[in-house]
Amino acid sequence: MKTVLITGCSSGFGLETARLFLERGWNVVATMRAPRTDILPASERLKVLPLDVTDAASIAACIEAAGPIDVLVNNAGVGLLNALEGIPMEAVRLAFETNALGTIAMAKAVLPQFRERKSGVIVNVTSTVTAKPLHLLSVYTATKAAVNAFSECLALEVEPFGVRVRVVLPGRAPETAFGDNHRKHMAFGTPDAYGEIVKGVFAEWARQPADEVTHVADVAEGVWRAATDPACPMRLPAGADAVAAMAAAERMLA
Ligand SMILES: NC(=O)c1ccc[n+]([C@@H]2O[C@H](COP(=O)([O-])OP(=O)(O)OC[C@H]3O[C@@H](n4cnc5c(N)ncnc54)[C@H](OP(=O)(O)O)[C@@H]3O)[C@@H](O)[C@H]2O)c1
Repeated sequence: MKTVLITGCSSGFGLETARLFLERGWNVVATMRAPRTDILPASERLKVLPLDVTDAASIAACIEAAGPIDVLVNNAGVGLLNALEGIPMEAVRLAFETNALGTIAMAKAVLPQFRERKSGVIVNVTSTVTAKPLHLLSVYTATKAAVNAFSECLALEVEPFGVRVRVVLPGRAPETAFGDNHRKHMAFGTPDAYGEIVKGVFAEWARQPADEVTHVADVAEGVWRAATDPACPMRLPAGADAVAAMAAAERMLA
């Protein structure tokens, strides 16, 4: 029976992905900064472990306690929506520490066992904002674009050892805790000069039809495909808006 380790399972895509792999008979190591056992179905195939992807000691302890794993899903992430002028450098660093360096550190932590066993898959969750530049997302997009580039190069490097790397790119998913978590941890106020831009961003989101957003199930299915289908493309959009954004970006490049 195969084992998946997923980061950021306390809510949103990570929680849904953990549910899906459990339903489909896998062993699941669901990791969270503050572990909770009550949000996933009880199962002897479920292990809930503490993990903060910005903390090297936490990563080492988690990998040790998890035992052998077949698939790593780097899903943990923080948002950062603001004009660059309104973002303290400390917040820029936290976003890179979590979204980019956390992903890299986790990949580094599992690679020795994947390489030795000559199998394993790393699935990195980024975002379609990397395909379509949007206002107020310069730093967040940079963290995710770094992971896209990292993943594509790493895929080449580890392919001879039977290890696959894939990227799943969700679109905008208003139903997760992402916006609330961002507001809780990263609200600094936007400089007045950018007020009209902020209004425009929220107005555009309000106009987005409900069937043209990404749902947690879209992302969980995308991660499942990336983990289990060797023919899965390197960059897999997840969600109706994600598929449309990636197709538009490809048309522009053609
Ligand atoms: N929602 C969207 O519109 C959207 C769109 C595209 C991509 N994404 C990406 O999808 C992923 C999941 O987002 P989501 O929408 O499901 O949001 P979410 O509900 O806020 O989930 C994010 C998860 O990451 C965890 N996390 C944050 N910092 C962490 C750290 N240092 N160590 C370990 N875990 C940490 C959070 O845990 P705590 O509960 O401890 O904070 C939470 O479990 C993120 O990488 C995000 O960038 C989201």
